[in-house]
Amino acid sequence: MKTLSSRTLNKSLTEKLLSLYTREEAGSIVQLLFEEFLGLKRKDVLLDVSIDALPDGMKLAMDKLADGMPIQYILGYTFFYGRAFKVAPEVLIPRFETEELVHLILAYQGTATPTILDVGTGSGCIAITLSLELPQSRVLGVDISASALKIAEVNAKTLHSGAEFMLGDILQRGLPAGPWDLIVSNPPYVRQSEKDRMHQNVLGHEPPQALFVSDEDPLLFYNVIANQATHCLNPGGALYFEINEAFGNETATLVEQVGFRAVSVHQDLQGKDRFVRGVWNG
Ligand SMILES: C[S@@+](CC[C@H](N)C(=O)[O-])C[C@H]1O[C@@H](n2cnc3c(N)ncnc32)[C@H](O)[C@@H]1O
Repeated sequence: MKTLSSRTLNKSLTEKLLSLYTREEAGSIVQLLFEEFLGLKRKDVLLDVSIDALPDGMKLAMDKLADGMPIQYILGYTFFYGRAFKVAPEVLIPRFETEELVHLILAYQGTATPTILDVGTGSGCIAITLSLELPQSRVLGVDISASALKIAEVNAKTLHSGAEFMLGDILQRGLPAGPWDLIVSNPPYVRQSEKDRMHQNVLGHEPPQALFVSDEDPLLFYNVIANQATHCLNPGGALYFEINEAFGNETATLVEQVGFRAVSVHQDLQGKDRFVRGVWNG
């Protein structure tokens, strides 16, 4: 039987993805496929290990990739703060910046054991990670999407997290009563007008409800959450937002005007304004 050269296969699959991804991104994606479907590490490809046949699953995955589906949805999982989370097209794929948000919270929290509310929990990545990193905490995640919550619940079970989840539209129904020591949210924050600059695989495959807000009211979620938080945060409790890089100052001003103190804007690893924190003095 004729075998395939792993180096040649790697090169030809990478080239098939170049209309959608940079060469570096395409190479990393193909390497993930090699590991998932062939059990081959990068060093095996460098050694040009031979392959008997391309598994059907890998061919299908290549078709989906060429169609713009993100690799995380194809594999069905992604890593967040060192743990594997189930993902599917019903939930936003957790981003690196959101790991930084969790890291920021943990740096401020120390070893405290708070009650935590995660607004717009999606896959549950923030809620579950906080519950595992702060094992004595009590964490609730709320989301408008029932199908997202099903995935969050699977993640909590698989990762042995005690985080709980609740269905709710916070724009209509407000925040769950609490009281909370910490409220965190990575709400939809991409303006409709920013769509042009987005990658095809985000636009065509990730849930619009998780991403977009209107151009007319881009801070809608921040406004509602910050105002509501004043009724359900304990004195000394903290509010954390992930934000659109274009609105660092505006979001901080909004949070300050609502009555929060010690409001600060924090940059992500790319140096962009990405997080806002405020403390509620009651
Ligand atoms: C940017 S995603 C964040 C998901 C996850 N927390 C993360 O960081 O990867 C925003 C989430 O807010 C949810 N959402 C949108 N509108 C909502 C609303 N009115 N009430 C509650 N959740 C909402 C979406 O379903 C989505 O899961």
